[in-house]
Amino acid sequence: MRSQEWFGRTGKDGFIYRAWMKNQGFPHHEFEGKPVIGICNTWSELTPCNAHFRELAESIKRGVWEAGGFPLEFPVMSLGECQIKPTAMLFRNLASMDVEESIRGNSIDGVILMCGCDKTTPSLVMGACSVDIPTMVVSGGPMLAGRFQGRKIGTSDLWRFAEDYKMGKMTQAEFIAAEASMARSQGHCAVMGTASTMAAMVESLGLSLPDNATIPAADSRRKVLAHMTGMRAVELVREGLTPSKLLTRKAFENAIMINAALGGSTNFILHLMAIAGRLGTFGDDVNLSLDDFDRLSAQIPLLANLQPSGEHFVEDLFYAGGLPALIRELLPHLHADALTVNGKTLGENCSEARCYDPEVIATLDEPFKPNSGIAVLRGNLCPNGAVIKPSAATPELMQHTGRAVVFEDIDDYKKRIDDPALSAGTFPLDASCVLVLKNVGPRGYPGMPEVGNMTLPASILAQGVHDMVRISDGRMSGTGFGTVVLHVSPESAVGGNLALVQNGDLITLDVPNRSLHLHVSDEDLALRLAQFKPLELGYERGYVNLFIRHVTQAHEGADFDFLRGSSGSVVKRDSH
Ligand code: FES
Ligand code: MG
Repeated sequence: MRSQEWFGRTGKDGFIYRAWMKNQGFPHHEFEGKPVIGICNTWSELTPCNAHFRELAESIKRGVWEAGGFPLEFPVMSLGECQIKPTAMLFRNLASMDVEESIRGNSIDGVILMCGCDKTTPSLVMGACSVDIPTMVVSGGPMLAGRFQGRKIGTSDLWRFAEDYKMGKMTQAEFIAAEASMARSQGHCAVMGTASTMAAMVESLGLSLPDNATIPAADSRRKVLAHMTGMRAVELVREGLTPSKLLTRKAFENAIMINAALGGSTNFILHLMAIAGRLGTFGDDVNLSLDDFDRLSAQIPLLANLQPSGEHFVEDLFYAGGLPALIRELLPHLHADALTVNGKTLGENCSEARCYDPEVIATLDEPFKPNSGIAVLRGNLCPNGAVIKPSAATPELMQHTGRAVVFEDIDDYKKRIDDPALSAGTFPLDASCVLVLKNVGPRGYPGMPEVGNMTLPASILAQGVHDMVRISDGRMSGTGFGTVVLHVSPESAVGGNLALVQNGDLITLDVPNRSLHLHVSDEDLALRLAQFKPLELGYERGYVNLFIRHVTQAHEGADFDFLRGSSGSVVKRDSH
């Protein structure tokens, strides 16, 4: 076993590797050939969605001990979506490097990744894949749905509250009461936002035990799942079942189709692409492309009635039978023979699953909505692609032509969005316009923040209009909704055509035909490009300097170019 390269040594090296560990009170026999299971913990009070992880880790440890393993918990960088500035996405790759090196450099045979808030899942899975020792995931679980003024609420209501508050329909006191009512229990966002999308992704990929995605954080069965994961991880080491054996092309295709049926977050694309890129020596084992997402989800209807595409919450999905019940319904489309981390196939794992609430999990014959998943758009505005989530958009806007109202960056947007001057002038703003936001891409912001679902101008909201076509090179929170085109690639900061859009240009969005077109001739675009000055990015030192030099574009997953592939788990040299 790998850990014996540390603990099984004789002489000075063995002394060093064991002696200091013994200051924690471990008896000598723990070091004699037991599978050592690392527990990679993203606990942090600055990541409130993961703040219950110290307790959850204890359940994992009990399972490891029970199965005859030796658990060792370690912290890694934790990313709190709603706290860290300028955006957690700026640090996803940094956290993945922390995870990768922490796993490889230490005396562990297998690892359990404790994931919760949005970026804590992809960063840990990316890092673990680049090492490729036996790996399992325990997610923290969703919050219980909030309760406010007699109804259930979750993170998606935040966007509605923000509009109501802006329009004076909600008082300051109500706003503050809503905050506490929404986040009333431990866990991550209660809707099918990015955190639950990621938890469903790991379950679909076969990296977790069944039901990992949906058991609420506050439900004691979450601890049971953690305990059982600890037990299974010990066997996994004995079997030598590593991520690269589970994460085949079939597993990725399953994850894409299940995400479509769930109505998962658009962030799913970026993270799944980045994870796929970490497998194999050069990261081309799975060979995933943006078009796979469109092609595979085109045949899948929306089965889950969950916010933000529907009405219910992730806890309701658990009560309705959980992800296994949804997977069972979807089996005719899936690769049922894909192996999962418990040693059974995806099909075997859901063979007993039943749906207890057809209101929450619909059937293929009578789906919740016909269109699901993520549509990938092409056109002169996004030669390398852009994405939209049809299930969360307004059907009437799916084919729409409008005049561009351009914001050069997020500060420009914030300064002018409610400026009455927008509604006057040569190109007066109205509800048919297309809001264009530049320089919020991976390099331009930097870090590709979740600002793509820009709040509409007050003048438009006052007309009772709640959606307009919005286009940017940024991202949208998985809890967000609207007719929002995201991830435009190449981004404006590197001179993509998005940078060349001017006020008054006509733009046509045509989702059924997967097209996004700027009605400006190639000649005129060439003239504009000749005038284009690349954005002054700054950041002469530090991590952000590394980031802007090495981050790839959205259609490639926005990982660092030098992180593609796996370096394996071997460390050739000792520390003394
Ligand atoms: Fe952490 Fe939503 S803010 S999951
Ligand atoms: Mg988010």
